[in-house]
Parts: sequence; structure tokens; C-alpha cells
Amino acid sequence: MFSIREATASDAEGICHVIVKAIQSCEADHENQQDLIEKWCVSKTKDNVLIWITNPRNITIIATNNDNLITGVALLDKEAQRLRLCYVLPQAHGQGLGKTLLKNIENKAKDAGIVEMNLSSTKTARGFYQRNGYSGSLPVYNQITGRSNYDMKKSLSETIEDSVMVTKGS
Ligand SMILES: CC(C)(COP(=O)(O)OP(=O)(O)OC[C@H]1O[C@@H](n2cnc3c(N)ncnc32)[C@H](O)[C@@H]1OP(=O)(O)O)[C@@H](O)C(=O)NCCC(=O)NCCS
Repeated sequence: MFSIREATASDAEGICHVIVKAIQSCEADHENQQDLIEKWCVSKTKDNVLIWITNPRNITIIATNNDNLITGVALLDKEAQRLRLCYVLPQAHGQGLGKTLLKNIENKAKDAGIVEMNLSSTKTARGFYQRNGYSGSLPVYNQITGRSNYDMKKSLSETIEDSVMVTKGS
């Protein structure tokens, strides 16, 4: 079982741990090249995470397990209308956690008046985003890894219209 809540400053270290471990699991992107993993993780420090989660333009949510361990994180940049982070601890993969975080952050985005969510996906996560309604296959050069990421987007207004239709019909 896991629970979802908004992150606070004291969560920075746990979030940092999730990001680094999840990046290490992105073998399709870094092909286990140690120098690439280190380059990718260099900015993922506790201090930087603290700056990101306390910046008022961002909304950060986390998942915790029964032992209160942080197992996942999603961060929305409201001004850019962009999902900047969506990472799940490798041992918690495949249990619906990523999907739950994504749904929750999309709902927060809708509450903030955002009608389209944009993101840059790793090669690893592309199928996950497609499965969750995101489209777009434009490869974008990632300056950190030197590999391709993929620009993807999803209309959030469709979901709003769907729920209005359900309410009207019921
Ligand atoms: C991508 C990631 C967030 C997915 O989280 P998760 O908790 O393992 O995914 P879920 O269990 O919630 O999966 C939700 C659905 O997506 C599918 N899915 C998950 N990962 C997938 C993948 N890599 N490719 C295709 N489908 C995938 C699942 O089968 C599931 O399908 P269902 O709705 O039919 O059951 C997680 O694997 C991760 O952190 N990966 C490494 C870091 C990364 O690349 N993050 C994205 C940065 S842009």
C-alpha cells in the first residue's frame, strides 16, 4: 500500500534518493554507461531538490509506503505547464504507483487551470506515457545524456469534458 501527499522541505533527501535510483534503472537511455549515469545525476542533489520543491511555481507530490519510505515523486512546473519529474523507486515499479502519481499531478494541473500537460520523456518511460494518454514522438536532444528524449503532451481538457459528460448523463 502507498499514500500520496504534497512534498515538504524535509522530503528533499528521500526524493533525491528516488530520482537517482530511478535514473540508474533507465538502462534503455544510459545503457549502463557509468559516466553517463553520473552526468545525469550530478544535478540531482538534496540541495537542488530542496530548491525545486520549495519553488512556488512548482507542485511536488510524493508517494510513501507503509514504512514511510518515499517511493515515488512527480513535479509539475505550473508556469511551463510541464511535468518535470515522474520517478518511481525501482523496487516499486509495476504496481500502479507511476500511474497514480501521474493522475494526481494531472488533477493538480487541472485545478491550476492547465489544459495541456507537456513533458520530455526518457526512452525508458515512453511506453508508460503512451499507455497513459500521452502522444508525440518528436525526438529531442538531451544535453545531459547526449541521447534522445521525446516531447509528449496530453490534453487535460478532454478529461474535464469527459467528467462533465458523465455528470450530465448520470
Ligand atoms: C516510468 C515509471 C514512472 C512508471 O512507473 P510504474 O509505477 O512502474 O508504472 P505503473 O505500474 O503505474 O504502470 C502504469 C501502466 O503503464 C504501463 N507501463 C509502465 N511502464 C511502462 C513502460 N516502460 N513501457 C510501457 N508501458 C509501461 C504498465 O504496464 C501499466 O499499464 P496498465 O495500465 O495496462 O496496467 C517508472 O518505471 C520509472 O520511474 N522509470 C524510471 C524513470 C523514468 O524514466 N521516469 C520518467 C522520466 S520522464
